[in-house]
Amino acid sequence: AGAVGPRLLGRAAATGELLTSEVPLPPPFQVPLPIPAVLPPLSRDADADRYEIVQRVATAEILPGLRTPIWGYQGTFPGPTIESRSGRTTVVRHRNELPVPTVVHLHGGRTPPDSDGYATDLVLPASGWRAAHQGMLDPDAKITQGLRDYAYPLRQRASGLWYHDHRMDFTGPAVHRGLAGFHFVRDAEEDALPLPRGERELPLMIADRAFAADGSMRYPSLDSTLSTVPGVEEPYAAGVFGDVILVNGAPWPVAEVSATRYRLRLLNASNARRYDLALDPPPPDGPAFTQIGSDQGLLDAPRGHDHLPIAPAERYDVVVDFGRYPVGTEITLVNRAGTGSTAYVLRFRVTRRGTEDSHVPDRLSTIEPLDRTRAGVIREFSFRGAPSGGRHGWLIGGQPYSPSRIDARPRLGDVEIWRFVADVHHPIHLHLVQFRVLSRGGREPGPFDGGLKDTVDLRPGEAVEVIARFDGYRGRYMFHCHNAEHEDMGMMANFETV
Ligand code: C2O
Ligand code: CU
Repeated sequence: AGAVGPRLLGRAAATGELLTSEVPLPPPFQVPLPIPAVLPPLSRDADADRYEIVQRVATAEILPGLRTPIWGYQGTFPGPTIESRSGRTTVVRHRNELPVPTVVHLHGGRTPPDSDGYATDLVLPASGWRAAHQGMLDPDAKITQGLRDYAYPLRQRASGLWYHDHRMDFTGPAVHRGLAGFHFVRDAEEDALPLPRGERELPLMIADRAFAADGSMRYPSLDSTLSTVPGVEEPYAAGVFGDVILVNGAPWPVAEVSATRYRLRLLNASNARRYDLALDPPPPDGPAFTQIGSDQGLLDAPRGHDHLPIAPAERYDVVVDFGRYPVGTEITLVNRAGTGSTAYVLRFRVTRRGTEDSHVPDRLSTIEPLDRTRAGVIREFSFRGAPSGGRHGWLIGGQPYSPSRIDARPRLGDVEIWRFVADVHHPIHLHLVQFRVLSRGGREPGPFDGGLKDTVDLRPGEAVEVIARFDGYRGRYMFHCHNAEHEDMGMMANFETV
């Protein structure tokens, strides 16, 4: 089962060196912010809304005048956005027309195991692959050829989810080539709130890339690997970074806004980069961002922030009031964690007045409290680099990923506390469950830990406890570091709800 693909990354990934573009970088804030198209359903019947997505090779003009080969859902990067209603089954038929196997995971979805995109449940290309790789396929996996129907019951609250590739050992390169898209779940509770909507709700997928002279996105290639770099000695491989910041697939774009409130659905879809987002200039009064939701939907009450630290796979749902700036102001969404070309992300240009019809109420939602006394089981997992590095350079509980090992068997419906400890930064994601951060570094959760989450960023040397009810579906699920290179280099494990 371990042979689904070799864990091979080159030295650049291993040392986490910034990949720089081999082409001149364009001036920032020239390209209009693109909004990914919303995918129309093929049909809606009594049971489900049905969609079809073709995964294919395409060419995109990401940097002006440069042709970049991508792998895209529907041939676009980001892929099309899916809009679903809570509790209404969404079936997405994915056709794989790429030259490699794929796996689709709906990140944050409460999905039965069959459709969760288990890392070895491959969708093989329509022809050619099976015969050549028969001995390398996980014998226990549910493998299909050419296409697969993923069924999402979406028995969950309104939230900003995303879908992306999840093939064992190859998630990093596949997502890097473009396999990521938004999937929003809506419900009546959210509809009833007077939040900015329509054109005043902006999905913002942030990702960094570097570009080669031929236009391709630079990723340490599978040929410059352990065969030429014997043993990756650096155990603290940081992952793959680029020097161009893309929002919805465009470099440092610009968005024209009216002097009103906007709702920003922020997603960090970068393989490894963390951002610390702020507004420059900050508003004359009050916090820059009013957070209304986190990974798994609305907070109970809004929370103001002057900056937003965001690790790979995390989401923030925030409202920014551009009415606090005079018409004509240019406001940059900056990255305080970056330097040079990575220190800025996006620019808003307040071009006009607008009629304000939204506000952020003091109460947003109700989140069921879940305190320590409810938990019957406490488990602990360490997230650390392997002492000797190498192709299994990243470990959970001292072990690299194996599809055949289950590290936890929570009983369906039980509440458990999971305690994580890390050597360096790791954004930890659990499939299936919605958790709350219970403590960070032995103290109360931090200001950004509020609400229901599915990904929590661990800081070096810090212990974080999360609490969750393991309900929904019985079966095998993954949990892992969402630094995509760490994940591909072994930092993933399984739990099984029983
Ligand atoms: Cu966003 Cu297991 O992944
Ligand atoms: Cu990690």
